Amino acid sequence: MEKIELHTKSRPSTVFCGGGALDLAAEYLAGKDAILVTDSNVCRLYAPLLKEKFPAAHIFAFPAGERHKTRSTLFSVLDAMFERGLHRTSFVAAVGGGVVGDLAGLAAALYMRGTRLVQIPTTLLAQVDSSVGGKTAIDYRGVKNAVGAFYQPERVFCDPLFLQTLPAREIRCGLGEIVKTGVLSALIGEKIRRNADKLHDLGFLQTLAADCIRFKAGVVEQDETEKSGLRKCLNLGHTTGHALELLCGRRSHGEYVLIGMWLETFIAEGEGVCSHEYAEEVRALVRLAEKRIPAFPNAQKGLEFALLDKKNAGQGSVSVILSKAPGEYAEVILPADRYAKYLALLQGGAQ
Ligand code: NAD
Ligand code: GLY
Repeated sequence: MEKIELHTKSRPSTVFCGGGALDLAAEYLAGKDAILVTDSNVCRLYAPLLKEKFPAAHIFAFPAGERHKTRSTLFSVLDAMFERGLHRTSFVAAVGGGVVGDLAGLAAALYMRGTRLVQIPTTLLAQVDSSVGGKTAIDYRGVKNAVGAFYQPERVFCDPLFLQTLPAREIRCGLGEIVKTGVLSALIGEKIRRNADKLHDLGFLQTLAADCIRFKAGVVEQDETEKSGLRKCLNLGHTTGHALELLCGRRSHGEYVLIGMWLETFIAEGEGVCSHEYAEEVRALVRLAEKRIPAFPNAQKGLEFALLDKKNAGQGSVSVILSKAPGEYAEVILPADRYAKYLALLQGGAQ
């Protein structure tokens, strides 16, 4: 079992990663007043196990999927917390993927100005990224994660047992954030390249998960609320990824991040941020997880969504986080028309 500490200013957070983490969560919440917030899929698969491990907790499940990461779901969770008579010292345990973690985390931040929060991530993406670091949010008025808060969970319990029921596609989504970390960290990138044949081996993914969490913890400790700019590096591929996600919505977050990273290597090359050789290297890493870049005939429409991205400081321009070299990144602000030109590269996809 890996134990990773995050010494963040607002509240320290401890991540447990490995077999037995769910049992640790059960011990941690034993005898405490708690609500487990989850989604319909996780509830269908795991309700008996959750009832066995957390016999006193109330389970609240909302319909699965990004389209339910909304204000009405958020208020349904808050209603359940009121009806259950939770108070400030009660716990919210988010048991699910990134959608559950983000939404339940925000409910915990808002309820009585903050109740106690633990994350029990059940997707690879949530284990390697979203459950750690304290970003919580819902989507609002067509903008991803537009309403949210930084709110650290006091504990995160990443148990690989949940990964056994994940469809292959959700594993690929998790690989999106893993590959992103591999671009930011030369060591992790090298480990991915050397073990390209093991990217579907749950044992290997578990070791990568701990590496990614350690890397993210180091970034979040230095820039918890994305003020100094360092944390922005975690948004690699996300400007385009989020725009495509809002435009098409058929795939999942991690897959759009992979496609976003691929496209943004052309921006990095075109804007002189990195060499052609390095851009090719990053594209090859992305293609280990996403073999075929699909065609987006309406890609340029994604500009409207990219212009709504939270990272943009002004009107009419798009902020993109680009990889310069292993471990180095740059933020580039592109005029809308120049960014749209790059988006057009997605119209044909790539084999
Ligand atoms: P998700 O939460 O929608 O989960 C994907 C699917 O897997 C869902 O259908 C879910 O019901 C199902 N599922 C969950 N656990 C399962 C299991 N063990 N077995 C079988 N099915 C299971 O999506 P996600 O990819 O986990 O997360 C994406 C979300 O995370 C996006 O909303 C994104 O914005 C957010 N995110 C947040 C951060 C952050 O730092 N807070 C970082 C990255 C992504
Ligand atoms: N996933 C981006 C961040 O946590 O900052």
